[in-house]
Amino acid sequence: MKGIILSGGSATRLFPLTATTSKQLLPIYDRQMIFYPLNVLVKAGIKDILIIVAPEQSGNFLNLLGSIFDKSDVRLEFKVQKNPRGLADAFIVGENFIGQDNVTMILGDNIFEDDFSEEIKNFKSGGKIFAVKVSDPERLGVVQFDTKMKAIKIVEKPKKWISDYAIPGLYIYDNRVIKAAKQVKPSARGEVEIVDINNWYLEKGELEVGLVRGKWLDAGTFDSLLEAGIYVKEKKLYEKFDPIINRAIVEFNEELKNLVKKKL
Ligand code: TTP
Repeated sequence: MKGIILSGGSATRLFPLTATTSKQLLPIYDRQMIFYPLNVLVKAGIKDILIIVAPEQSGNFLNLLGSIFDKSDVRLEFKVQKNPRGLADAFIVGENFIGQDNVTMILGDNIFEDDFSEEIKNFKSGGKIFAVKVSDPERLGVVQFDTKMKAIKIVEKPKKWISDYAIPGLYIYDNRVIKAAKQVKPSARGEVEIVDINNWYLEKGELEVGLVRGKWLDAGTFDSLLEAGIYVKEKKLYEKFDPIINRAIVEFNEELKNLVKKKL
């Protein structure tokens, strides 16, 4: 299983904060946002992770993450997405990185309280996505279930209500996702939508939809960014991070402090 963090995009809803840095490098309490999706992948035992970034932000990502896992067996790769073409583009930009493997893709601005280790480790084939009850489903990809909680329909930003279950930014697919992504045509808003990939698997009867336990936040607005920070602090979520990540952050901070001392 390989991992991809989709961490490019335009982040217009967070202007002007994102005029000077990437959304995923903004702080959620005591650490940059990107560490939260990174934690989901590392906790699930994924060692090969591709971080897809916007061209103008690549240097900032390298400054933070370029050698942070040198003392562990987590390997990070970086790739630039030239244009924010949409979420399905992750599997086209990441094609060579994925190779013949399965892949878990997570959005760089998604904060999950839940641990998905079991789902990721037990994944065999097809597609596995998740659903979470929200009050504003019209803003998101939405899944409709039948009475047995079997997914029957998935719609991106439905104009007419079909369900309160939104699909958060964590997707597990087998290797056919590359083929599926290549077939996706840009939508009316000009993006290659991940809903088309999910429907590709759903039509084949090979899409499983699990439920998210605990809190989910997409930290893409001022309010959700603040809410995420407060939530992390109150629930002490930083204590539940994988030790590989917490150790790497501590060492990185020590190195920075030593550098500053030397300079002084
Ligand atoms: P969004 O929040 O949908 O888009 P955005 O980050 O560009 O923000 P805004 O709507 O405020 O302009 O993106 C969700 C995540 O996916 C986020 O981590 C950015 C990432 N992303 C890419 O890396 N490439 C893309 O082409 C798109 C659409 C998003």
